[in-house]
Amino acid sequence: MRRTARASINHDALIHNFNRVKQLAPDSRIMAVIKADAYGHGMIQAAKALQQADGFAVACIKEAVALREAEIQQPVTVFQGFQTAEQLQQCIKYQLRPVIYQQQQIELLEQNVHGKLSVWFKVDTGMGRLGIQPDDVDDCWRQLEQCSCVDEVGLMSHFANADDPQHKLNRQQTDCFHRLADRLNIETSMCNSAGIIAFPDVQGNWVRPGIMLYGSSPLLNKSAEQLNLKPVMQLESEVIAINYLKKGDAVGYGGQWVCPEDMPVAVVAIGYGDGYPRHAPSGTPVSVNQQRTQLIGRVSMDMITIDLRNIDQIQIGDVVQLWGEDISVDEVAKLVGTIGYELLCHASGCRLIR
Ligand SMILES: Cc1ncc(COP(=O)(O)O)c(C=O)c1O
Repeated sequence: MRRTARASINHDALIHNFNRVKQLAPDSRIMAVIKADAYGHGMIQAAKALQQADGFAVACIKEAVALREAEIQQPVTVFQGFQTAEQLQQCIKYQLRPVIYQQQQIELLEQNVHGKLSVWFKVDTGMGRLGIQPDDVDDCWRQLEQCSCVDEVGLMSHFANADDPQHKLNRQQTDCFHRLADRLNIETSMCNSAGIIAFPDVQGNWVRPGIMLYGSSPLLNKSAEQLNLKPVMQLESEVIAINYLKKGDAVGYGGQWVCPEDMPVAVVAIGYGDGYPRHAPSGTPVSVNQQRTQLIGRVSMDMITIDLRNIDQIQIGDVVQLWGEDISVDEVAKLVGTIGYELLCHASGCRLIR
C-alpha cells in the first residue's frame, strides 16, 4: 500500500541545480554535499543521479562506506574525518578523503605506516567549529608533510556567515584563507552554496555545494526562484476528510483556531510524524489542486487541517502540497522559525523517488 504522506524526489531538478553550480563556478571541481541522506533526498540515489559530480562529501565514515558499497567511485570527502586508528584504517581501505582539523589526527597519521590516503587540511578562519587555528598552521603543516601515508593535501575552510554576504566576517575569512593558500600553495576549497554565489573570488579548486543542489536558497536576501534553483523535493499528501464547520467552532488540539464564519475545512494525512513541522503556525501556505490556501489549527502527529474557503471543487483523495513547486520550503521554514535544511532533512522518512 502506498503511503499517503510522501516526499517525492525530482532528479531532473537536482541535475538542473547541479548545472547551475557549474555555471556559477566554471573553473572549480564540484564536491556535491550529500550528508544527512542528501539533506533528506536519499544519499545513494542522489549520488547516482549526480554522475557528473567530481566528488562527494559526507559527514562521517559510515556514510562514506555506504557510498563505496553502492559502487560510487568518485572521491569521497569525510567532513568529520577520523578520531581513532581503526577509523583511519577504514579511510585507507575505502580510499576516503578525511578532513584533518586537530593535532591528535596528525599523530594518528604519523603512527600509520600502511597504505596511502589524500586528506584535507582544515583551518578555522572564523567559523569557530572544526579547524586548526591560523597560529598553529605552520607547526601542524610541517608535521603533516612528514607523514609518509599522506598523499595529496588540500586546504579547506568553511564560512560562518556566507548566507549574509555583507557580513564583515566574510571578508576576514576570505583574506585569511587567501593568505594561507598563497603560503601553502596547494589545492583549495572554501565555498559552500552561499559562498559559491556570493564570493566567486574564493571558489578555488573545489566547491562544496549542499543546499542549493536541493533547490533551497542559501542566501537570506534572495529566493531560490531568483537564483534559478528548482525544488527537488515535493512533500505531499491527500485530503482524507472534508468538514463543514460553523462560525465559532474550534479546530484541532488546543482549539487555537476558531472559524470566523461557517466554512469548509479539509483534514490532510500528514503531520509532525512525517516530518511536517509541528510549529508551523496557522496561515502557513499549502497548495491544494494547485490553489494556494492555508494551514489552520495545530499540526498533529499525522494530520493537519486546512482552510477550504477559496478552493474550488475539492474531494477526498485530492493532493495537497506542503512544499515543492507550488510552495517554497524556504517560505515555510521562515514561518516556522527555521531553515529549509532542517525541514528537508526531517521529511526523509516518507521519501519516494519520482
Ligand atoms: C564543511 C561544509 N562544507 C559545505 C557544506 C555545504 O553547505 P551548504 O549546504 O550551505 O551549501 C557544509 C554543510 O553544512 C559543510 O559542513
